[in-house]
Amino acid sequence: MFRVDIITLFPQIFAGYLTQSLLAKAIDKGLVEIHVHDLRDWSVDEKHHKVDDRPYGGGPGMLICVEPVIRCVEAVQSLDSRPALVILLTPQGERLEQRGVESLAQTGRLIVLCGRYEGFDQRVIDILKPHELSIGDYVLNGGEVAAMVLVDSTIRMIPGVLGDECSSWDDSFSRGNRLLEFPQYTRPPEYRGHRVPDVLVSGDHKKIAQWRQEQSLLKTELRRKDLLIPPADPNT
Ligand code: ADE
Repeated sequence: MFRVDIITLFPQIFAGYLTQSLLAKAIDKGLVEIHVHDLRDWSVDEKHHKVDDRPYGGGPGMLICVEPVIRCVEAVQSLDSRPALVILLTPQGERLEQRGVESLAQTGRLIVLCGRYEGFDQRVIDILKPHELSIGDYVLNGGEVAAMVLVDSTIRMIPGVLGDECSSWDDSFSRGNRLLEFPQYTRPPEYRGHRVPDVLVSGDHKKIAQWRQEQSLLKTELRRKDLLIPPADPNT
């Protein structure tokens, strides 16, 4: 069973997401387990459960303190005998892409740290040496939405999670695929003068495959020319 532990200051954010749709089904099927932990439970401040403080040297905002994070990660790590890959979500991280998602799905266990405020005390990173990940070049109010993106993209790569094993097979970006998806149509055959392309109702499967390939290429050339350049080989 694939296990994810999410550490956050706002556990309620995940309540709806965990009980809906594909993820709820994957949990029901016993393929995935997700545990959400409130960082405040590991605060060293017994009275107010404070976990943040002002940065040394001055500057705006607050930082998440090192002590509660280390205490929490160590406690969570010991809840399962399998060692987890620790991920810290931050705009400073390596960009999460499909290749990375596929390798996360192979790990079996993740601990995901969601940041808030101005980020973490640097010693969190020095001690835990987490894999720092970003979901894109924009700044979110915290790592919670990024954690959902990470979990959502990762669990669909776990065998059995998608109803039909093939449905991630043709996805754009999957297994090195670098073409955007071709347009798809369903009934009715005509709506407000917009007709389904004749080729798709022709029954000629060879022609349909060729048309789809052309459409994918065309869309990729128009929208994402960068995808048509092969990625650099990490070994060279
Ligand atoms: N936290 C804030 N912004 C983020 C981003 N772009 N990716 C991951 N975590 C974040």
